[in-house]
Amino acid sequence: MSTELPESAAPPPTGAGESSPAPTRRTFIATSTVVGGAVVAGSVVGGTSLIGAEEVTAAERPPSSRVSLTVNGTRRTVTVDNRTSLLDLLREHLGLTGSKKGCNAGACGACTVLVDGHRVNACLTLAVRLESAEVTTIEGLAKGGELHPLQQAFIDEDAFQCGYCTPGQIVSGVGCIKEGHTGSPEEIREWMSGNICRCGCYVKIVRAVEQTAGRK
Ligand code: FES
Ligand code: FES
Repeated sequence: MSTELPESAAPPPTGAGESSPAPTRRTFIATSTVVGGAVVAGSVVGGTSLIGAEEVTAAERPPSSRVSLTVNGTRRTVTVDNRTSLLDLLREHLGLTGSKKGCNAGACGACTVLVDGHRVNACLTLAVRLESAEVTTIEGLAKGGELHPLQQAFIDEDAFQCGYCTPGQIVSGVGCIKEGHTGSPEEIREWMSGNICRCGCYVKIVRAVEQTAGRK
């Protein structure tokens, strides 16, 4: 039986005098296919090397913890993977999707919430570290059907376009006013600089914060 490769599968000719031709794209793909096939075959034929769901023991599961915290005035107790961020706890476990996931890396401020009255990026905050904490999200600002004054000011000033950054801007603005960093538009701009607006509504956002702070 001939072992000669069909022309289409044969490697292209190499330069004269080369004792060890460099692998080509074609030989690389052929080798990968053989090796990959062997791995797949091994997992099927070997049987015991297959990782079935039933073989994932409790010890192999990621560690989880119970955490009790107050969110918008309501006590919540949840068991979460220890790696869960506050943002994912709010959005995925508690159904509070007002806080937005923009960058998930602390760079945009779309996820800003208040923890014990302080502004934090929920995407960078581990949920399991918040035992007994008081969390306020955008959903918790309105009271008795009345918008928070800063929410109303955002509407009055037309301080948003797409609205994606708006929950974070408003919660951050509430924190900024509470901290007293509202002495001038420049000061507001500085202390709100962690909240990015891709639509560029900064002038009106600053005006809304300034007006709300002035009404205090
Ligand atoms: S999503 Fe948290 S800072 Fe961007
Ligand atoms: S209103 Fe669109 S990102 Fe701010």
